[in-house]
Amino acid sequence: MPTLIGPFRQLLPLDNLPERGAIRDDQMEVIAEGGVLVADGKVLATGTFAQLRLDHPDAIVDEITEDLVAMPGLVDAHTHICYGGSRAMDFAARNAGVSYLEIAKAGGGIWSTVQHTRAASKEQLTNLTLERLDYLLQQGITTVEVKSGYGLSVKEELKQLRAIQDAGQVHQADVIATCLAAHMLPRDFDGTADEYLQTILRDLVPLIKAEGLAKRFDIFIEQSAFTTSQALGYLRALKAEGFAITVHGDQFTTGGSEVAVAVEALSVDHLEVSDATEIERLAQSTTIPVVLPGATIGLGCPWAPARRLLDAGCAMAIASDWNPGSAPQGNLLVQASILAAFEKLSTAEVFAGITHRAARALGLTDRGVLAPTYLADIVAFPTKDHREILYQQGRLTAKRVWRKGVKV
Ligand code: NIG
Ligand code: FE
Repeated sequence: MPTLIGPFRQLLPLDNLPERGAIRDDQMEVIAEGGVLVADGKVLATGTFAQLRLDHPDAIVDEITEDLVAMPGLVDAHTHICYGGSRAMDFAARNAGVSYLEIAKAGGGIWSTVQHTRAASKEQLTNLTLERLDYLLQQGITTVEVKSGYGLSVKEELKQLRAIQDAGQVHQADVIATCLAAHMLPRDFDGTADEYLQTILRDLVPLIKAEGLAKRFDIFIEQSAFTTSQALGYLRALKAEGFAITVHGDQFTTGGSEVAVAVEALSVDHLEVSDATEIERLAQSTTIPVVLPGATIGLGCPWAPARRLLDAGCAMAIASDWNPGSAPQGNLLVQASILAAFEKLSTAEVFAGITHRAARALGLTDRGVLAPTYLADIVAFPTKDHREILYQQGRLTAKRVWRKGVKV
């Protein structure tokens, strides 16, 4: 028996928007007094509540009696929320004038989080991840990508990936795991960067496959991490093994996005220093650029060129990058609305970037719009006007969330 949810003062299905490039707000359908008809976790129909009620008199009605604006559940396509410890000392040091790369060189940065994460048990990491998933789901984020990358040995990456898997199995949000064993060359590895990557391919990849721990791999291409040529060999080998690829690229120096396009990665994330050449290359490719305003806010560095990426024709997504180092805040709506003000993004571009374009960056085609056959992941905000959501810059928080049609 289907359930009819509504009436919502406004319903934004975010359906039928251009797949790529800029989006004008007048291209975004806004259904007044809308409803969503749901069965078996999926959307059967959207429309006005009154018409759906007439057409489906048998449907159970989940009646909304308050002013709510509904849209597809949000997708955070890039997080590192499985970690131990804090990096408050890095934040203070950066603000006192030391750079992210200098901190990394001195043994702080990612390596300091590796120490704390290794010191935590798998169960502790699961619990920390669950707490952070709670915070994201409260924001209306129903799909969350979570990376490893603070273990940096076969044993410790496995522990982290198992903690992520355990968290995903009990949490209501859908958790998409990514192996980021190539976050940096671990300081205690006895060998070269190439040898480390070979070790991951030889010893970790078979175990990840055997346990079904991740279908995606990531690498940080940067001065403090891996070179473009190291990354190319590693990523090609992973592709041959059937893994989807994503890249941390063009954060402080360019190179990463070129590799991502060369290996037909699903996405390349960061892009703060991407310029005309990189933007044009991305626009000609199927690789989705994912911008991470939380890292700009955390590091006080330039915004990724979001406006230019969209104008060039990219299907740009926006993600939180929640991690202890560069993006400790973890509030996607705050970040996306501030990015919108600086980069002049339309409301429709931001909403697309945190729903279906973000889903596509994860290779997911079953969510991110409210239309027949799509997952009934829905978030509703307590307002009459959808423009309040970004205008209030995160102060307006999600009131109700449905995951596969079930209230959470
Ligand atoms: O996406 N850039 C590399 N990785 C993370 C930061 C991780 C950290 O500093 O702990 C990022 O910003
Ligand atoms: Fe990241």
